[in-house]
Amino acid sequence: TLLTASHFAWADYPDKPVVLVVPFAAGGPSDKIARDLADALRKPLAQTVIVDNTAGAGGTIGSARVARAAPDGYTLLVHHIGMATAPALYKKLPYKVPEDFEPLGLINEAPSTLVGRPSLPVNQFAELRKWIAANEGKVNIANAGVGSASHLCGLLLQASLASKMIPVPYKGTAPAMTDLMGGQVDLMCEQATNAVPQIEAKKIKLFGVTSKQKLPLPALAQAPTLAEAGLAGFEMTVWHGLYAPRGTPAAVLAKLNTALRSALKDPELIKRQEALGVRVVTDARLEPVEHRKFVEAELQRWSKVIRDAGESAD
Ligand code: MLT
Repeated sequence: TLLTASHFAWADYPDKPVVLVVPFAAGGPSDKIARDLADALRKPLAQTVIVDNTAGAGGTIGSARVARAAPDGYTLLVHHIGMATAPALYKKLPYKVPEDFEPLGLINEAPSTLVGRPSLPVNQFAELRKWIAANEGKVNIANAGVGSASHLCGLLLQASLASKMIPVPYKGTAPAMTDLMGGQVDLMCEQATNAVPQIEAKKIKLFGVTSKQKLPLPALAQAPTLAEAGLAGFEMTVWHGLYAPRGTPAAVLAKLNTALRSALKDPELIKRQEALGVRVVTDARLEPVEHRKFVEAELQRWSKVIRDAGESAD
């Protein structure tokens, strides 16, 4: 009876707009993915779904907002590996991972790209590698704050090159991309979601992709994978997942998971994501349990990269 009572209490959920919090600035990959998802969720939830950016501190400010939001299904988080690695980087986090979140399902996966300002005096990865070595200690690399995907990819790049670069943090990779195109910063490790349009417009230089295999997308097919370009074993796929605060009722989580599954079948959403080199998740990681297991495996990998790099935010 308790279950049916609680079931009944949430039978008309959602009866007001659902907010997807993006913990980075508008216009970046997380924001683009969240807006695509919001559009596709409107129908299955029969409700308005809006995106709200709460940027800063590598995504931890937006994550904290959702961790302490009312567990009623009206405030959700769209995030990536940055959420799981934050505890290894920020000693004074006001939330715990994974305890303070309910994973709903994985949304998609995107390769990252190594891109540079258009005025760089090199065009291929091999030349870039020499240029970095010749300018050791003077090369700067943009990221979206400590713990962001661009930051983590940059750590992997510096470890693979045995080179230390100067980090230039932004509130998201959208503002970072503006400075990269303007030549204010040298390099960035940016998700294909945000890099592909600028590569197609020839506003930045592409040196490599971080996927295991080269990608068929014309904008990315012209570049090698960093692994085949000489950084043996270099591989990074940025995934995004959907999260609710701990304590959200099971009936609400079930409704959200069903709505997520149907949103990810939306042909419009799939077309838009694939045009950017992004793959929508269709496998078991759409299940909350499998999603949690996947994040825990990812966390093992990235915690080692962070430890080896001796990184911390505070
Ligand atoms: C963004 O949307 O700005 C990115 O996800 C930031 C990052 O994690 O690099």
